[in-house]
Amino acid sequence: TASAGHTKAGAVLSANAVEANDTCANGFPADFVWGLGTAAYQIEGGWNATNRSPSIWDVFSHTKGAVAGGDTGDVADDVIHRWRDDIALMSELGLKHYRFSLSWSRMMSWDGHSMVPNEPGIAWYSDFLDGLLEAGITAHVTLYHWDLPQALHEHRGGWHTPDNERILTEFEAYATLAFERLGSRVATWFTFNEPWTFTVSGYSAGNHAPGCVPAQSGRGPCAGGDVTPYVVSTNVLNAHARAVAVYRTRFAATLGGRISITLNCEFARPLTNSAADAAAAERALQFWLGWWLEPLLSGDYPAAMRRNVGERLPSFSPEQRELLIGSIDLLGINHYSTHMVRDVADGERGDASSGWEADQHVVATFGAGWPQAASPWQRSYPAGLRGLLNWVAARYKGDIYVTENGWSCNSFTAAAAAADQEQLDYYTGYTEQVRLALVEDGVPVRGYFGWSLLDNFEWADGYSKRFGLYYVNYTTQQRTPKKAAAWWKETRSAC
Ligand code: NOJ
Repeated sequence: TASAGHTKAGAVLSANAVEANDTCANGFPADFVWGLGTAAYQIEGGWNATNRSPSIWDVFSHTKGAVAGGDTGDVADDVIHRWRDDIALMSELGLKHYRFSLSWSRMMSWDGHSMVPNEPGIAWYSDFLDGLLEAGITAHVTLYHWDLPQALHEHRGGWHTPDNERILTEFEAYATLAFERLGSRVATWFTFNEPWTFTVSGYSAGNHAPGCVPAQSGRGPCAGGDVTPYVVSTNVLNAHARAVAVYRTRFAATLGGRISITLNCEFARPLTNSAADAAAAERALQFWLGWWLEPLLSGDYPAAMRRNVGERLPSFSPEQRELLIGSIDLLGINHYSTHMVRDVADGERGDASSGWEADQHVVATFGAGWPQAASPWQRSYPAGLRGLLNWVAARYKGDIYVTENGWSCNSFTAAAAAADQEQLDYYTGYTEQVRLALVEDGVPVRGYFGWSLLDNFEWADGYSKRFGLYYVNYTTQQRTPKKAAAWWKETRSAC
């Protein structure tokens, strides 16, 4: 009949329209998630507001000589007081997805015997989440972005005590509290952000909180523990698995959110075309990302690590393995740069007592001519992100989200930042490689979060390094959009 024909045509037309709209002008699917990220200690300030207590980063940043310029996170971007304005800023940018972390020492306090809920802190996050909701912004929340309550480090053995059941119980209780009180407004939970970084920097190199190095095992800030990065990783992975088990058994069905972890990795390319360097590049990826990803997929550390680290690498019990395997609903990947890797398996490196770096038996450099960021550890090589996404997709079959990617700007005044072309080049270059991974290689990458919304406390570099889409004047707290902010608004927020 005519009406059936009409209906059909209408259906075809709307199907065509959907197809046409399916891909945005930026070349990404319409449902691709574009967001920006931050972390509690880097932006909040309000070190004692809401009855907050100290974390290992408060203690570390207040230690003489630990952070560049003697900077601390006491005030940072003062988001604790300016959050309404900052949500308005996100709205101006057309932002639909925001990734941030909770400060454990704002959510809970130490009463002398145990950690108890800290109601003023919980209320702050609750209001903040309501504010995001009102602005139509979806929340992606990290439980642990490096700021362990100092009391748990001192009185509960922290992450550095072997097989530390006490810290697992504490993390489980904290995660449960967060799910209970905030979970109705959170789309994605991430248990840990970049465990590699806080483990290697905090417990092997010693340049991040709590500032421990293997050579001082049993002494210094990790007195009483056994400082190896592998003891830390084993505790952290087990804590992750426990929190995921709680979410899945008690909360997922009613709340409908997803839970995962955010792992970081710089891509590794062989320095020469020798077989030894090819193996070294693969080993570097196993030591960096496989260290965390393999246990989540197979319940054990990678074979390359078992070989090189030997008995210093702890084992997981059958129960722990069972909890670990498949304990991610998706995977978050943070990525900033790429290394050219050379093999030194012959013993040029490899002093077993000196930590993670030596254990790999590789030496990493940069490619000649790759643009240098302000942070010495970062150079721009966009194709590395495509390479890494393919490496991950060969092993993990679920959805992948780039949860961090961004540029350490070489612009240091508001005026220079507003005209920062390098940051914009980094974003256009890297997001294009994400598009190629998705469209050409079929990698299931579903989202991309730029780092960061605001310039902020860059850990051991203090305020001397700037990753924001907005420049922050730390005297006036004024936010000034950089060139990449306009690009973000026009090409990422808009579809
Ligand atoms: C990774 C971390 O998650 C974040 O806290 C940091 O600021 C950026 N990388 C830049 O170094």
